[in-house]
Amino acid sequence: MTAAITLSTLRAMKKRAEKFATLTAYDASFAAILEAAGVEVILVGDSLGMVVQGHSTTVPVTIDEMIYHTRCVRQGSANTLLMADMPFMSDATPALALANAARLMKEGGAQVVKLEGGAVIVDTVRLLSERGIPVCGHLGLLPQSINKLGSYRVQGRDEASAQCLLEDARLLEAAGAELLLLECVPATLMKAVSEQSKVPVIGIGAGADCDSQVLVLYDLLGITRGKRPAFSKNFLEDCGSIEAAVAEYVRQVKAGEFPAAAQIIA
Ligand code: KIV
Repeated sequence: MTAAITLSTLRAMKKRAEKFATLTAYDASFAAILEAAGVEVILVGDSLGMVVQGHSTTVPVTIDEMIYHTRCVRQGSANTLLMADMPFMSDATPALALANAARLMKEGGAQVVKLEGGAVIVDTVRLLSERGIPVCGHLGLLPQSINKLGSYRVQGRDEASAQCLLEDARLLEAAGAELLLLECVPATLMKAVSEQSKVPVIGIGAGADCDSQVLVLYDLLGITRGKRPAFSKNFLEDCGSIEAAVAEYVRQVKAGEFPAAAQIIA
């Protein structure tokens, strides 16, 4: 029997400079395939609002929907570390975040909750962490803020915003975040965050200098409707089966072959 993956497993892997694989899933059948392929962390992302529910953003996703999908994923993967997104405004105040994160864990089986934001969520991260809830801080492109951002574009390109992101990462870690996730930032900024962070750092569209990569499963399978993000890769087209595509993703992440130059934002 495979040993269950915990945060200690990930911290030990970071110490050994060994990369781990993270991937999204939203149901039990895919979760079982991911676990069998050796994915260490499954993220029940609120991207489900777009790829499963067909919305144009993640904003409409509710906490009840996140709990439902997290519970489905837990049914298919007993040993993989299970991280779930706190959907838009489910963490609007520290008290609300505490109540909703507890539901994700008790009703959904999540072991880590992911929150979008930097300095503004520090008090929430501290409260959750003090109450025994492991948190992943999501920085860089924050899809829940799409109505403010206007488009899904690379963040942290200029010196001021890069410095701000570095400081946000430091604050989140000091508040107790166990993991950081950076989305769509230049590879040089990811490198700087990785170098200053003691906790494992996961990247998506953020270069190779981090402890793990994550992709939206439907991008990896090439079945996302519309335009595929430039930083993602269709692993299914060369592999022939879903199982082989996920296994190849895991292999390439661990070997440092994914992301390759073609998927790296300078
Ligand atoms: O919702 C999600 O799937 C995510 C990933 C894109 C990191 O947050």
